[in-house]
Formats: sequence, structure tokens, C-alpha cells
Amino acid sequence: MKKRIGKSLCLFSGKGGVGKTVLALNLAGIYAGIEKKVLLVDLDLSGGGIALATNKPAIKTVYNFVDDYNNNRFKDFNDYVVKYNDYIDILPSPKDPRQATKIDSKYIEILLDKATFHYDVVLIDTNHVLNEINLVVLDAVDSILFVMQNDPMDLKNMKSLLSIFKDLEKTNYKILLNNSRDPFKKYFTMFDIKSIIKSNVDYELTSEFYVKNMDAYVMNGEIVTLQPKAANTFNKDYTTLVKIALDFLGGDKHDKD
Ligand SMILES: Nc1ncnc2c1ncn2[C@@H]1O[C@H](COP(=O)(O)OP(=O)(O)O)[C@@H](O)[C@H]1O
Ligand SMILES: [Mg+2]
Repeated sequence: MKKRIGKSLCLFSGKGGVGKTVLALNLAGIYAGIEKKVLLVDLDLSGGGIALATNKPAIKTVYNFVDDYNNNRFKDFNDYVVKYNDYIDILPSPKDPRQATKIDSKYIEILLDKATFHYDVVLIDTNHVLNEINLVVLDAVDSILFVMQNDPMDLKNMKSLLSIFKDLEKTNYKILLNNSRDPFKKYFTMFDIKSIIKSNVDYELTSEFYVKNMDAYVMNGEIVTLQPKAANTFNKDYTTLVKIALDFLGGDKHDKD
């Protein structure tokens, strides 16, 4: 029997628009840079942007996997992924957003399990809603990266999320403060942030990684961290992204508060 080789990592947040999708793409770029085979699974089922941001047509999607599996048509996992480069494959979200509601979470668990037999890293991008699918994903993955911004609404939502995790005694997560998504949002000091969310913050991305023409990257299907000059241009944040990538491979847990 084939051996499970990979680890699964889900990016999650208390609200939308905090930079999860951009980070998922750029972490995939970092893993590709260290020659790890990575699958980007787009579980933002009704509005995912991974296929768009990589300029790859969605031939088969998460919906096709689930539909085929359910109807005994599933043969090979590789039939469902699109190749981005030698290291990054993509499994896009459904083409028709109505298909999102037809996906049973039990098949998502099977999908993630199968993926870890083919890839070193399975990176899951999703939306911020605590629905059945996302709850199953959060429970099934090896690790979670919580992404938050420095604004009152987001910190409030992160605090709630973290208290749920505490109640469930789940510690397989890390917390990232993303100052690169919107460099003007810096309402609170790190001390304030930690006391609001009642937790340590594991990583911080600075405004250095704010990319003014991010939409151009998206439209060209390019990933910032795969650009030859990225490591120099975004030196500090590039190093942070590498640290995040390596920590998850090593199975690091959230630092005690
Ligand atoms: N580092 C960044 N620099 C510039 N724009 C960014 C950056 N990160 C995110 N954005 C922009 O912010 C918006 C929301 O980001 P996105 O990754 O889609 O968030 P989420 O997936 O959490 O909803 C997008 O328009 C994206 O291009
Ligand atoms: Mg997103």
C-alpha cells in the first residue's frame, strides 16, 4: 500500500479579505522553491480564486472529485489536478457556485486524505465561514494557519475563533498577523493585540510585502514568491514565509500564551 507522505495545512480567518488566498499562493511558491510537491486545494467552494490567480483553466474541480467518488467513477487522484509548474498542482473550486451546496463534507475528508499520499504539502485555501465543510476541514488537517489583520473587527473575530479552539483543546495552529494586506491598518500595538485575542502571535508579515500591483500578478497568473528577485525585494517577509513553511513541515505547535 502507498504511504502517506504529506502534511495538510489550512489557512483560516475570522473574516474575509485578510489575505488568505494571496498567502496560500505565496506559500505554495515558497514550498516549490524548496522543491516540495504541493497541492493547492481551493475549498472556497462558491467563490474561490485559485484557478483565476494561477491562470489555469478549471477542467476538473473539487465538485468533479466528489461527484465521481460518490458515483464510483473515481480512479486516479491525478485526473483531478491541474499542473501549475513542476512542484505546484491545483485542485480548483467548482465552476458553478451552485455546485458548492451539493458537496458533502465526508468526501472532502476523503479528498484531503488521498491528497496526502501524493504531495509533500496539501495547502487548503477556504473562506472564513464556520460551516460544516470548514469544520470538517479544520478537524481533519494536520495544521491551521490563522490569518488576521490589525483592525478591531478582525481581532474580535479572531478572539472568538481562538476561544472555540481552546474549548476543543486543539493546539495544532499558528497565528499570523498580516500587515501586508493593508499597510494602513495598524490600530493596535502588538501588546494590545495579544491582550485582545488573549494569545501569543506566532508570525508577522510587514507592510514590506504589500504589493501595489498584486492584481496584475493575479491577472498574469504569477506568484510573487516565485519571482527571481522576491527573496531580495521582500527580504524580511520572505524569510518569515520560509519559516512558516518549514515550521509546518516540522509539525511545530502554537507557542504557549
Ligand atoms: N500582500 C498584499 N499586497 C497587496 N494586496 C494584497 C496583499 N494581500 C492581499 N491583497 C489583496 O487583498 C484582497 C484580499 O486578499 P485575499 O487573499 O483574497 O483575502 P482572503 O482570501 O482572506 O479573502 C485581494 O484583492 C488581494 O489582491
Ligand atoms: Mg480567499
